[in-house]
Amino acid sequence: MRVIAVANQKGGVAKTTTCINLGAALARNARRVLIIDMDPQAHSTLGLGLEPHEFNKTILNVLEPPRSPYHMDLKDIIVQSKTPNLYIAPSNIDLAGEEYRLIDKLGREDFLNTGIKRSRLPFDYVLIDCPPSLGILTINSLKAAREVIVTIQPHYFALRGIEEFKETLDLMRENLKHDLEVYVLITIADMRTNLYQEVFHALEEYFGEKLFRTVIRKNIALAESSSHGVPVLEYEPRSSGAQNYLALAKEVIQLEKEKPEERLFRKN
Ligand SMILES: Nc1ncnc2c1ncn2[C@@H]1O[C@H](COP(=O)(O)OP(=O)(O)OP(=O)(O)O)[C@@H](O)[C@H]1O
Ligand SMILES: [Mg+2]
Repeated sequence: MRVIAVANQKGGVAKTTTCINLGAALARNARRVLIIDMDPQAHSTLGLGLEPHEFNKTILNVLEPPRSPYHMDLKDIIVQSKTPNLYIAPSNIDLAGEEYRLIDKLGREDFLNTGIKRSRLPFDYVLIDCPPSLGILTINSLKAAREVIVTIQPHYFALRGIEEFKETLDLMRENLKHDLEVYVLITIADMRTNLYQEVFHALEEYFGEKLFRTVIRKNIALAESSSHGVPVLEYEPRSSGAQNYLALAKEVIQLEKEKPEERLFRKN
């Protein structure tokens, strides 16, 4: 099982769009996929056509300490989406208070990690949608993951944001003894501009093979599909958005071969 966090402390850089649509594209390739919504905004939950406030069991219950009466096993809060092979651990606004509640708890960085490890999930992929901050919810997500995809929208300050993010990862390596494979994905790209070309070359130089070759172009169908509560593959399969996320899934699947130590769940 590969656990991949999708993160960037910057807001609006397609973290959620990537979780939903990469998730759906992996599911289309016969992978069983779980999206964990770690954002109190609950956009992944909404984007899969589910109403966050209707859930009384959410990821919040998994983050409760095991002795709390509200604690639940991750597998007991998972719901199936309308897309075959695609499941979600929903969130809602109640998660917003969790940042404060966890702050003085012992082992606070590890609750999600423990929740995932304990429940022996039958998934090939777990994609974690992080909130736009570097708080305790993001730290829990990064600690639970072996890989992280940092989504970047190309603009002049993109590299600065990445530097900050890498500092956090370095701190985690030192203080929490946790190492992560970092990949970078360019999203919401307007390929026609000179700025795009410049930023692409700068990122390529900086990240080398850790930069996905697939670039997610700006595409209105991606924005529209979320508001209709379905992945773009179902909403507009011929759109560039659908094609780009299928290509990304191919690249992600290609990496399975380089990770023999993380045996996939599938038997076929
Ligand atoms: N490739 C794209 N083309 C056009 N619009 C996009 C694209 N990707 C995402 N969007 C739109 O951009 C907005 C931000 O995307 P999204 O919510 O996925 O970002 P996010 O990083 O999860 O944001 P937040 O930090 O608030 O969680 C949304 O309205 C989404 O529909
Ligand atoms: Mg989001």
